[in-house]
Amino acid sequence: KKVAILISGGGSNMDALVKSMTGDHPARPVLVLSNDPAAGGLAKAAGLGVPTAVVDHRAFAKDRAAFEAALHSALLDVQPDIICLAGFMRILGADFIQSWEGRMLNIHPSLLPKYRGLHTHARALEAGDAQHGCSVHEVTAALDDGPVLGQAVMPVLPGDTPETLAARLLPLEHALYPAVLRRFAAGDARPVMLGG
Ligand code: GRF
Repeated sequence: KKVAILISGGGSNMDALVKSMTGDHPARPVLVLSNDPAAGGLAKAAGLGVPTAVVDHRAFAKDRAAFEAALHSALLDVQPDIICLAGFMRILGADFIQSWEGRMLNIHPSLLPKYRGLHTHARALEAGDAQHGCSVHEVTAALDDGPVLGQAVMPVLPGDTPETLAARLLPLEHALYPAVLRRFAAGDARPVMLGG
């Protein structure tokens, strides 16, 4: 299976995914694509020997359709079987998602269905949640709303801030996403549950 990974920033989740696709893993990374030419993850991907591409959303002004057409075309060049959104910070329109539906995953830093959208750590703290975590889900047209394929759970500790939660959550993301990808690539629909 060929995997394309979409990033916008540091790409720590991309790094974990690429490093996991070795040996008898049914998938291999074929492209790391960023909407931001300055994304630190591009250099990481190059260092890991994965081809990279940039489709700069700022080059399309407000023309979302043109941006997504360029994104689609860059992906068609590699013909991925699976697309992993990993710290990808652009909201994708329904048409783009439809053309990749069932083959596109995303990692979201909350225990979905809680806290779709942004500022998930602050919202978990404000709610006084005893637990927090991350979810990998299939991408559907509704934001952060597709079938959940795996979750990692951790306690919220006294004195936690959004920053300490995010920092403690990141290693769990790096464990969860590769575990979900391996099952998804093997056609194994069992959800992955870590921690808790
Ligand atoms: C992570 O918090 C992840 O949950 C979110 O983007 C953040 C940065 O991810 N999706 P990465 O280091 O760029 O993979």
